Amino acid sequence: MIHRTPVITRSNEIYERAKKVVPAGSQTFSKGVTQFVEGFAPKYLHRGKGSRVWDVDGNDYLDYIMACHPIILGYADPDVNAAVMEQLELGSTFSLMNELEVDVTEQLIDAIPCAEAARFGKNGADATTVAVRVARAVTGREHVAYCGYHGWHDWYIANTDLNSGIPEFAKQLSHSFNYNDLDSLEAIFKAHPGQVACVIMEPLTILEPKDNFLHEVKKMAHHYGALLIFDEIITGFRFHFGGAQALTGVTPDLATFAKAISNAIPLSAIVGKKEYMFALEKTFFSFTYGGDCIGLAAAKACIPKLKREKVPDHLWTVGTRLKDGYNALVASHGLEEFTSCIGYPCRTIISFTGQGRYDELEMKSYFQQEMIRRGILWTAYHALCWSHSMDDIEYTLEAYDEVLGLFRKVVDSGQSLRPLIEGEPVKPVFRKVADFNSYVTKKRG
Ligand SMILES: Cc1ncc(COP(=O)(O)O)c(C=O)c1O
Repeated sequence: MIHRTPVITRSNEIYERAKKVVPAGSQTFSKGVTQFVEGFAPKYLHRGKGSRVWDVDGNDYLDYIMACHPIILGYADPDVNAAVMEQLELGSTFSLMNELEVDVTEQLIDAIPCAEAARFGKNGADATTVAVRVARAVTGREHVAYCGYHGWHDWYIANTDLNSGIPEFAKQLSHSFNYNDLDSLEAIFKAHPGQVACVIMEPLTILEPKDNFLHEVKKMAHHYGALLIFDEIITGFRFHFGGAQALTGVTPDLATFAKAISNAIPLSAIVGKKEYMFALEKTFFSFTYGGDCIGLAAAKACIPKLKREKVPDHLWTVGTRLKDGYNALVASHGLEEFTSCIGYPCRTIISFTGQGRYDELEMKSYFQQEMIRRGILWTAYHALCWSHSMDDIEYTLEAYDEVLGLFRKVVDSGQSLRPLIEGEPVKPVFRKVADFNSYVTKKRG
């Protein structure tokens, strides 16, 4: 087992340059310095292969972040890379359409239950935003009920605490409901009768659906004349080949996919029933890189490989060992009141509860620091990929065993955690500011 305080000189040098010219420091919020122990953790990665990455100072890590989930096969997958390089030689994007657009559309239709047609974007938020637009076009309504995270565009970010620059009307049109809480969804329909265009949600999250929740959401959405959109940008091809809809048997009207469909070569897709998808003939969804062949060539190689290699099965197998192994270690250290590994095995998260004695972000920071010291790049969740081997999992469990042992000593000694964190603790992810309940209270009050 590695025990190493990583030397991060080059990371720090680059960051000093970035601070002067890169607003917010980073292109992607969750890759920036606020999400890692600043002063201890590396800041810039240089390359990756399989399940491993190397930072700009030459330190290597087993990675569980996988670029925020799109790496489903592994970094620099040889099949996807070969397809991309072959396409680069032919040309990356053209003056007319390219057959790849139709090839990948047909692959998605074969794989995804609700898919009768598809269009492509580059980011996940392209797909969720156009899905909301299609629902508005089809229903002639403007309000949106949502559950989960759906990207950076106005309609979604309006009700978070990073909403500066977003017009007031956007805040009035989007309303969040809670997973496994049908009443919170129905309250939105009742507060805006005949005005809700769609329900957009992540179908499976860390929580398991209770009491047939997804079936009931679909029934309620249709009862009130709204479309059901599954945001499968995380679940797509990770929980099951064909997405959460293939796993749960609940088929939405529209769905969005990104991340894993092309092993992180940028591509996203809206798919769905023809009767709704062809609303795209009456609204403008068009951009220079819409049919970019690099992402499409990657998807054309990635999607069959996911099926051929039974990648989702692999993620469930290694993920089950990781989840059960962590929870067994927690029990052996007598730490059940403070931490557990939760979620579906193919996508788990380490949850922390301070019990009034520890700040949860300090707990996360301490664990992150000690996992990094053991050569594991970690931010509490496990974005597993096909390249994570059982040996990787066993190594990770050995690391967890040591870190849990360290934390047990902290608990026993009554020490506080802050002095043990060798840098700035991680900061919270941005929050919703106006969840539906406070919105209703404001309106009623
Ligand atoms: C469920 C879900 N929807 C939408 C998005 C937005 O995707 P992107 O960041 O590619 O725009 C994300 C990104 O993490 C996501 O997890």
